[in-house]
Parts: sequence; structure tokens; C-alpha cells
Amino acid sequence: MTSEYAFDCRNGWSVNPDAPPDSFEAKAPYVDNGSTTISPERYYSPEWQEKERTHLWRKVWNWAAREEDIPEAGDYVTFEIGREEFIVTRGKDDRIRAFFNVCPHRGNRLVSDADGSRPHGFTCPFHNWRFGLDGQLEKLTDPETFRQEALCRDMSLSEVRCETWEGFVFLNMDPNAEPLTVHLGPLVEHARPYRLVDMRIVRRVQAVWEANWKVGVDGFNEAYHVHAVHQQILPVFNDYHAQIDLYGHGMSRMVTKFAFASPRLDGKELNEGLKAMLREVGIDPDSFTGGMEDVRPMVQQAKRARAARLGLDYSGFIDNQLTDDWNYFIFPNIQAGIHPEGVSLLYFRPHATDPRKFIFDVIVMLHPQENPEFLPPAYMGLPEGWDISGREPAVIEQIDWRDGGLGEVFDQDSSLFAEIQKGIESHGFRGSILSEQEQRIGHFHAELERYLGLRN
Ligand code: FES
Ligand SMILES: [Fe+2]
Repeated sequence: MTSEYAFDCRNGWSVNPDAPPDSFEAKAPYVDNGSTTISPERYYSPEWQEKERTHLWRKVWNWAAREEDIPEAGDYVTFEIGREEFIVTRGKDDRIRAFFNVCPHRGNRLVSDADGSRPHGFTCPFHNWRFGLDGQLEKLTDPETFRQEALCRDMSLSEVRCETWEGFVFLNMDPNAEPLTVHLGPLVEHARPYRLVDMRIVRRVQAVWEANWKVGVDGFNEAYHVHAVHQQILPVFNDYHAQIDLYGHGMSRMVTKFAFASPRLDGKELNEGLKAMLREVGIDPDSFTGGMEDVRPMVQQAKRARAARLGLDYSGFIDNQLTDDWNYFIFPNIQAGIHPEGVSLLYFRPHATDPRKFIFDVIVMLHPQENPEFLPPAYMGLPEGWDISGREPAVIEQIDWRDGGLGEVFDQDSSLFAEIQKGIESHGFRGSILSEQEQRIGHFHAELERYLGLRN
């Protein structure tokens, strides 16, 4: 690469340098998180894990369900984060509430299945105490055998805060936490045109990985590894000139051009990858007279025309949103690649007891489609012929990470997790050194350290 790519970290790259400064496209001002190394023990020490349990997971908004998972009063799902488990249920008043999955009598789990329906409330299987959908105790077995003062206390289920955004149900164990939409910051506005509330989960693959959850988060917070790990996408992905935006609350964004070759590759010629992208939108590459840089606008136009044909409303999107990867990081553990057709969500949760393991969910959400002419975008990695009607709720597919099954790109990423974990734990490792292409990682860890009281 030549000096044409001279880099000033404080300015970074902008996908559209002419974007008005107050627009959603604009590059956010640089945030200086310093340049110290990321200490390794946070990826394996039980002390760190314990600190995260009490200072992070108990304080932060955790995504627990989708509203459509519990359409009727009494429908519920359970949600696990670390050693805690919750019941998320819809009340007779249509309100969604979240309770610790714990009976106040002697602590038994109230429900043991992942989802179900209890329109008459929750009966604890240990001594049959029954609780209403609002969490209040409705039936106590043999009340006459309790001393009066033993019953003079709160006997309801322990409730936690529960707020929704675009169909996502989040819960928070901290009664004093800021509202969910304050935590989400600019994402609330930025996501509006995508109508996430109308999307449905069409596939959810889950596996336990042999690494700390932050190894997963870090890995997907940068495009610096793409040229080494995913060489096959360089012909159609400008990994180098990614626009990185750091926001409040540890949130960040990366916008990366698709249908545009990496500057790491030589030549301005149309490569096979770009030709395939033209073909995908119905343009014959042999009759295409433009150069490499003309492909992206051409794909954008073709996508708009196809949307009009299929009756999809793309009027709220700028052209760059039709091709590029707009990837948002929701602190502390969700990556959302959002596109007009759908969203690719990556969810990283800590293992209940082992800091060297995490639970990884790869989730595809789409605007439901019945029209066979609509093919889900290839980057979503859906198997051919996959049901995208959204009529049936997606069942969680459990996989073993050694077998792959997340699609080519995600398999390439995740096969490295266990190797990274081993290396980080080496006595010879002195802590991660970050480039400015990896500044989202530094931003994430800075916020994490603030939660843990290690940074102001
Ligand atoms: S532990 Fe639930 S009723 Fe006794
Ligand atoms: Fe990757």
C-alpha cells in the first residue's frame, strides 16, 4: 500500500467524508482510551470472573428474549447469564416481567424448561407454592403451620427491571441502572429505518467455546484480522478503510465497504468476487464496462430496483446501507451487523463457572419472506432452502465448535478462539498491544474496567 493510505488515528477513515457531522453516517469524534496493554488475567482468573459477576453482569442490561417469544399471557422463556437464571413472562395485563428463577420459600428453581406456557401462574415443584404472572404469591401450602411472623415478609418472586427496544427484551438486576434506551445511545436512532421490531429470528446456533467470553467479543470487534483469517473475502471487502466510531457506554460501530476490493490486493480490475456480486444482483459482468470502483454503486442501484420489485421498502436507507457492513457493538456482549434485509447477531455470554469457556449464539434475523424470489444474503450463511417465513419460532441448534457449522467466515473466526485462549494464558504473554484498527477493543475494555472500578 502506498502513502495514499497515510493514517492519522485521530481522524481515521470515513466511508462518506461528506456526511453532515450530525448525521448517523458521520464519523464520531476520536475517543482516547490510551495505549496501555490489555492485561491477560482478565481472560482466565477466577477473581476477574467473580468481579464481572458482581460488578458487570449484575449492573448491565442483558438481552433475554424477543417479545414474539411470549405472545400470550403466561408464555415464558428462561434466560441464563453466568450463574443466574431468569423467567421472562407476559402478564394478564400484557406487561412483560422478569423474575429470578428462584422460589422464595427454599430457593428451588421454579421452572426447569427453556420455555412454555403457564397461564395460571408458576407452581414451585418442591412444595407447590403458586405465584401469579405478576410474581405475587397466590397459594401457600398449609399456611396454618407457619408462625405468623415467619410470613410477615416479602413472599413474592424477586423481580428485576425489564425493558424492551425494537422487540428485544432486556433485563437488568440493578434497580438504579439508566434506562435501556439511554444505554443503547445512538443505536436507537440509527436502527429505526431497519424496523428490527418486525424482524424474526430464523436461525439460532449455539455452542460452548473453549475461551473466555471476551476473546469472542475482541475477535469480532476488529477487521484487522480479515486479511490473515478470511483472505477469501478481500476481493469484495475493504477491510483496511473501515470507519470506526466510538460512542458512550462502551458502544461502538464499524462501517466497512462491501462490493469494493481490499487495498491489500493489487489491481483495479474486476476480480472474480466482484463479478459474482454483480451476477447476484442480475448484472452480467461480461457486459459491465465500469471499473472496480463502479461495482459498489451498481450493486446498490440493482438492490434498490430489486427491492421495489419485491415490494420491500428501502426508502429510509442511503445507498451505503444497501451494500456495506454496519456493525454495532452493544456493550458488553452483542455484535449486530445490521442490513435492510436482516441482522446478524453474535451473542457472547460467560460460562456459569469456568472463565475459560463461553456460550456463543449466532443468530440470523430477517424480515419474514414468503416470496421465493427473495434469497437471503449469502453473508448470513443460511443453508439453501432455509425457512425464512418466520412463522415458526427458530429452535436453538446446539453444535460442537470442533464440527463447524456456522458458515465459512464464522468457522474461521471461531476455530481460533481456543488457540488465542491458550496463548493469552502463557507466562510468556505480556498483554495485548492494540492498533488503532482495534480501537473498539480498547473502548470495550475501558468501559469494562470502569464497571469493575479499575478506571475512572
Ligand atoms: S422451595 Fe418452592 S415451594 Fe418450597
Ligand atoms: Fe473474523
